[in-house]
Amino acid sequence: MAAPDAAPALGSGLGYRPPFRAGLFANRSRVDFLEIIADHYFDAAPEKLQELDLLCAHFPVVAHGLDLSIGGAEGVEPAYLEKLARLIARIDPPWWSEHLCFTRAGGVEIGHLAALPYTREAIDVVARNVEQVRKRIRAPLVLENITTVVRVPGAEMDEPEFLTQVLARTGCGWLCDVANLYTNAVNQSVDLDATFERWPWDRLVQIHYAGGRWRDGVLIDSHDAATSEAVWALYDRIVARAPVKGVILERDERLPPFDELLGEVARARTTLREHGRWA
Ligand SMILES: [Fe+2]
Repeated sequence: MAAPDAAPALGSGLGYRPPFRAGLFANRSRVDFLEIIADHYFDAAPEKLQELDLLCAHFPVVAHGLDLSIGGAEGVEPAYLEKLARLIARIDPPWWSEHLCFTRAGGVEIGHLAALPYTREAIDVVARNVEQVRKRIRAPLVLENITTVVRVPGAEMDEPEFLTQVLARTGCGWLCDVANLYTNAVNQSVDLDATFERWPWDRLVQIHYAGGRWRDGVLIDSHDAATSEAVWALYDRIVARAPVKGVILERDERLPPFDELLGEVARARTTLREHGRWA
């Protein structure tokens, strides 16, 4: 893909969910761009696609995929890739994103984002799949770090090294989910201060941030609460460190009044401006 610094700056935006529609159009100038979930528009009814076209007419839009299984050992599923490619062609985004994980194995849909083993073999698999995807989708792909409660056995390297090697090998940009980074550090007792400079900041294109909650002693990336001060602090540090092009608030459950979401989007934008990432 083009180098991350070739991507346009999009500012501070929101992960689009249908309940946000009215609030969004009443506050168009307060949201710089949107991220839509690509899978939600596959085989969609005409009204749903009309809504997508309406969003694209009023906001810059990037696409976020859920089920490509870019780390799947069996390769990418052609029928899924075809739907994804058609959807992305309809939007024509400056970039699109997927999770660095696998969601299918042995012909079975796992139903969640499963962590890859941090091995050279897994890097080979991702690189092969990215090549397959690029033959069909020309828009640049950025890969997102996920949460994992257990470390997959057999690791030959740690997460920052694995991600760095994947991005170097594939040329993909990085979607840094700050909440996922923080959640893994907490759950795996990793000192982020000690590893901070080892993450591939030069590949950063986009940021996700969100609130999570504790369940049975484990921090969950539940996207159902206000962003915590700890995540905001990490967000500020990352925006200061790396020339990010766009940041997206992900909120899926326990939706607050829309103004609260706009408050988070504004706070994220203020930090972008402080560091010259957005005009
Ligand atoms: Fe995310």
